[in-house]
Amino acid sequence: MILQPLSLFVAHDGTSSRSHLTCRYRCGDACAQPIPNTSENPYFRDVARRTLDRRTVLRGGALTMLSAGALFAHSTGTAAAQPGSGGAAGGSSLDHIPPPRGLDYEAVPPNTEDAVVVPRGYSSDVVIRWGDPVLPGAPEFDFANHTAAAQEKQFGYNNDFAALLPIPGAASEYLLVVNHEYTTEPAMFYGYDEAAPTEEQVRIAWAAHGLSVLKVRGEAGSGKLTPVISEFSRRITATTEFTLTGPAAGSDFVRTSADPAGTTVRGTLNNCAGGVTPWGTILSGEENFNQYFANGDTISGDAARARVKRYGITGAASERRWENYDPRFDQAKEPNEPNRFGYIVEINPWDATSTPVKHTALGRFKHEGATIHVTADGTVVAYMGDDERFDYIYKFVSSRKIMRGDGASALRHNMAILDEGTLYVARFLGNSPSAEIDGSGELPSDGAFDGTGEWIPLLRASADSAESLVDGFSVQEVAVFTRLAADTVGATKMDRPEDIEANPRTGKVYAALTNNTRRGTDNYPSADEANPRHNNKNGHILEITDDHAGTAFRWNLLLVCGDPAAADTYFGGFDKSRVSPISCPDNVAFDPYGNLWISTDGNALGANDGLFSVVLQGPRRGETKQFLSVPVGAETCGPIVTEDRVVVCVQHPGESDDYTAESPGSHWPDGGDAQPRPAVVVAWKG
Ligand code: FEO
Ligand code: CA
Ligand code: CA
Repeated sequence: MILQPLSLFVAHDGTSSRSHLTCRYRCGDACAQPIPNTSENPYFRDVARRTLDRRTVLRGGALTMLSAGALFAHSTGTAAAQPGSGGAAGGSSLDHIPPPRGLDYEAVPPNTEDAVVVPRGYSSDVVIRWGDPVLPGAPEFDFANHTAAAQEKQFGYNNDFAALLPIPGAASEYLLVVNHEYTTEPAMFYGYDEAAPTEEQVRIAWAAHGLSVLKVRGEAGSGKLTPVISEFSRRITATTEFTLTGPAAGSDFVRTSADPAGTTVRGTLNNCAGGVTPWGTILSGEENFNQYFANGDTISGDAARARVKRYGITGAASERRWENYDPRFDQAKEPNEPNRFGYIVEINPWDATSTPVKHTALGRFKHEGATIHVTADGTVVAYMGDDERFDYIYKFVSSRKIMRGDGASALRHNMAILDEGTLYVARFLGNSPSAEIDGSGELPSDGAFDGTGEWIPLLRASADSAESLVDGFSVQEVAVFTRLAADTVGATKMDRPEDIEANPRTGKVYAALTNNTRRGTDNYPSADEANPRHNNKNGHILEITDDHAGTAFRWNLLLVCGDPAAADTYFGGFDKSRVSPISCPDNVAFDPYGNLWISTDGNALGANDGLFSVVLQGPRRGETKQFLSVPVGAETCGPIVTEDRVVVCVQHPGESDDYTAESPGSHWPDGGDAQPRPAVVVAWKG
């Protein structure tokens, strides 16, 4: 294998490497659209600085390392420092400190291979790819003769989030649950006509969205996972029935001619990241749902127009022209249908006949995903990001406590927890003089981008009542038009909040801010201490010490991503000559030892995307190493890191501006002249 060295001094072009085709089909070309958040909402250098009562801020639990256990990367316990590809280093005192448990691997260099590249001594394999069987009777995938009937039984397109749940009583068997974020029709069909897709193509796309649930079996002696058709096998698509729960259910904003009660929605769309609940269900975020709806410009009235604009619903025809075959995608006919998307959905993967729900108490925005932290008293906290430039970070704190146990009544109780509680949005306050935050990325004189913050309440919901906590907004308006409510309370405009998750070992919360090339440009908001770079091409990682059920927090930037040789990057204070370059962080995850893992989307440094580990504790804090890279044009997502294996989703391999089925940009995973297929990959030591 020839690895092409990355120039660490590559000229930046001002954007991530993500192709325009990806932008159109995943995000509805969000980057080319006006910024939806035009609110006067002040960013924090204009907010009067206040002293938060630090006594209310949780100090974070002490790290307790696992005492035993063989991680997939067996720690040798010997001195084996592995400098990243950021540059050679020798003679460091760190050479005598063993790598943290679980991170004893040799970094993969940045590269542009059309392959999944894993460290020396590791192997990888495809678990399942677009078109592989999920349901009984699924036909063999036939790219040139694909049908909707086949797709409804097969693995969907563009896998993003993934979860691996051990099946009780079945050693080495797991449920694999995967999001299918979006479809890229020019790559899926020969001769695709963007102006006039056929009904069959549209129906294939509906069936290729949603989620897949399937059983996988681990192979003895390796990390391989083999799909097994079972009673758990399920496809959830753009037409599966969902129940709307929480304060927006039944409101005038969500009623349609097909659902006059406003309680039953067909389908879930643009499912990006997600989380596993402690009660064994899956949370999944409906992200760029706006792009599927046509004729937003027919909505009249100032308030209604403002709502449509704030959610980025534009134009006449939609990109995929679904409105040609189902009027619910046409706002001229069904103006409320988009109000039924943009939620966190919850799915019980253990019962293939269960009806999934959309939790409106968690607000409606471009939900990246949701992850759960449970406090000592059983309060459930959901952390969430709204992935748009200059949008916000949210959390939901339950008023009910988790019920332990795995019986039906506990499941029923726990699946309603996210309907009762308080929704908050975050305000970040820096502790350095604003003059020292000049947009260059240079650290302020106190040596850190850091400060305090508060969670501002928006909505309090209970089983039979709810209360708006935002002046001028009804309960239903906060639940359905959450962005507009948050605009009025002084939330901090962030650089595209993606995944947010609490470290189960320490309770500290980590958020990926993927990038924002508009920061500090034209008339857009300038840098602030939590978003400290203008033209932020490479993103950053926020570390929050949160009083999970409370309203105060402290924060600091763990990583300011990019080329380690560049002055505007920061790696937790670690020696930058010994780290891997990292750009556009998207998903975060933790291994059993509490190390942070980050997958990337849109590497702006000229190399393929990948999966990286970051040390959080001790003298190696900030050490960032690349564990794997994905094929050309792909993004890495859905990372799962267990003792035995690493699982990632490889999304949109080969995608580039001129990529079509006639001219594929990749032949991964099947090689030769095969069409590229999004797929789930497992890697293991051996
Ligand atoms: Fe679908 Fe925010 O990435
Ligand atoms: Ca500071
Ligand atoms: Ca994402």
